[in-house]
Amino acid sequence: MSTLHIVDHPMIQHKLTIMRDKHTTTKDFRELLNEISLLLGYEVTRDFPLEDCEVETPLQHYVGKMVSGKKVAIVPILRAGLGMVDGLLKLMPVAKVGHIGLYRDATTHNPVFYYCKLPKDIEQRFVIITDPMLATGGSACDAVEKVKSYGCTNIRIMCLVAAPEGIARVQREHPDVDIYTAALDDCLNENAYILPGLGDAGDRIFGTK
Ligand code: PRP
Ligand code: URA
Repeated sequence: MSTLHIVDHPMIQHKLTIMRDKHTTTKDFRELLNEISLLLGYEVTRDFPLEDCEVETPLQHYVGKMVSGKKVAIVPILRAGLGMVDGLLKLMPVAKVGHIGLYRDATTHNPVFYYCKLPKDIEQRFVIITDPMLATGGSACDAVEKVKSYGCTNIRIMCLVAAPEGIARVQREHPDVDIYTAALDDCLNENAYILPGLGDAGDRIFGTK
């Protein structure tokens, strides 16, 4: 069964509340999303395996630890997932970045696929799918499906705000995929927007409305 990780550190809650405020500017919204993404990244990578690494400090020989194992691919769902990439890259500067393009149909709320470009060795990588909003879960499930079709087996979803409906759908369709979110919100409205939510994340990141 997939595990839900709610990463509600006080600094994250503080920043997220500013993001929810409809008066927050595009610039501030984007900056806060990057800051929270870096902080979420700590939890998403918490169980990464370590290996011994020998170094010479200025004073003596020392056996320290460094991250070992699979390399990472960050895979944002376009558009809004892009807003979480820079924060994760600050944490993992050598990660590769793939892109999956999906938009929600305004009437059915089902995701429509339009783009996919992934690192060519993605099946050997630890995949972090990013999208600030997990609403019905349709986009996240399609993105997971897509990376699985390339042979990926180690996949996590990192979002900012999740609805119970979206979490239930991911857990049903992809029980092997853990979800990391800064907040678990109440429900969806009749347009499948998250309540209380923060509105349309893509529009708020890119200033398109
Ligand atoms: C939003 C959001 C997610 C999706 C979540 O994208 O960024 O990708 O909706 O909804 P779901 O869980 O019900 O699938 P949108 O379709 O608005 O595209 P955009 O990011 O290009 O604005
Ligand atoms: N997509 C968004 O950007 N916001 C929501 O609340 C739901 C889907």
